[in-house]
Amino acid sequence: MMVFRAGIVGCGRVGAEFDDDPKREQISTHAGAYSAVDSVELVAVCDLNEEKLRKCGEKWGIPSLYKDVEEMLDNEALDILSICTWNSSHLEIARQAASSGARAIFCEKPIADSLKNADEMIKLCHEKDIILQVDHQRRFDKFHQEVRSFLQGGNLGRIQQVTFYYTRGIANTGSHMFDLLRFFFGDAEWIRAIYSQNRSPNPNDPNIDGVMKFKDGLFCAIQACDDKNFLIFEMDCLGTEGRLNLTHSGYDLEFYHVGESKLFSGYKELFPAASPIDKDVPRDFMVDGVRHLIECLNKGQKSISSGEDGRAALELICAFHESAKEDGKRIRLPLRDSKIEIQSR
Ligand SMILES: NC(=O)c1ccc[n+]([C@@H]2O[C@H](COP(=O)([O-])OP(=O)(O)OC[C@H]3O[C@@H](n4cnc5c(N)ncnc54)[C@H](O)[C@@H]3O)[C@@H](O)[C@H]2O)c1
Repeated sequence: MMVFRAGIVGCGRVGAEFDDDPKREQISTHAGAYSAVDSVELVAVCDLNEEKLRKCGEKWGIPSLYKDVEEMLDNEALDILSICTWNSSHLEIARQAASSGARAIFCEKPIADSLKNADEMIKLCHEKDIILQVDHQRRFDKFHQEVRSFLQGGNLGRIQQVTFYYTRGIANTGSHMFDLLRFFFGDAEWIRAIYSQNRSPNPNDPNIDGVMKFKDGLFCAIQACDDKNFLIFEMDCLGTEGRLNLTHSGYDLEFYHVGESKLFSGYKELFPAASPIDKDVPRDFMVDGVRHLIECLNKGQKSISSGEDGRAALELICAFHESAKEDGKRIRLPLRDSKIEIQSR
């Protein structure tokens, strides 16, 4: 069995620290995911912050620790590099990885800080034959894949209306939301957006509400809440033959079917029903993401969460900014020449 050499730049929350949280039941970091997969060895990590670097090295037993990414890339002959730094540094680090001979990049979302820089990343990975995978991790999850097949198989009838609730910023959590909406319903034709009255914790990454119209005619309402009160990441999907509500950050699902109304003659209503999708499948999206990347390397395939998918989520983030700045102006997609720069941490 071929064992790939992996390294991580950025030993913060998603790089290494989330797994310190006793409430998290599944592996939630790149360090944890590489450590859980046999066909990859986590040989080196890098962080500007010495304390984080030391803690990560100790926790995961990593032989080589670096403060400089270029030095790590020069010394370690990495096959795979995870980029777990803030989005403004993703392009520069991807450039360094590409010239070091790495064969795959597992990049955190949002893919970059501007569409121009996302395009540059995609281009350089294409030119060097590097697999670029963006960590919108629900794509790797069997449960979310089942929900997608269910919806796309017409099991809810025609989808009449979708509402998505999120918190913590249009670029931060919004990136996952837009990716999931594209995963389920395809590309948007246009959007309209306004700034939310419910704050985001990051003043540089506002909460934005809006409406998306998808190419097949479906409308989706995007609604932000304030995470000071509670976290929410939910999709309520109303079809002609039922209702599917993806709840608890995508860990749970409520289902309703259509039946004769008990209140009004001649009408139908929605009633709670057993989930048609198995909710008890193992949930290990981060590890599944690493497994998928290894499979792509072994088979020379593109990732199911590609650079282009990451760019499309970023494009929607930029479109929401463009529209909100002009108080709800309709913005058609694809966006060309957006000057928006995204600051997401
Ligand atoms: N997929 C997810 O669910 C998820 C969850 C959290 C964060 N993220 C994304 O991951 C990225 C990082 O977020 P975070 O919350 O882990 O941030 P963080 O601040 O906890 O960690 C980032 C780390 O990167 C280090 N760093 C920054 N620039 C560096 C450089 N040039 N060289 C070496 N080290 C460098 C910092 O010192 C810090 O330790 C962001 O893009 C964020 O949106 C994704």
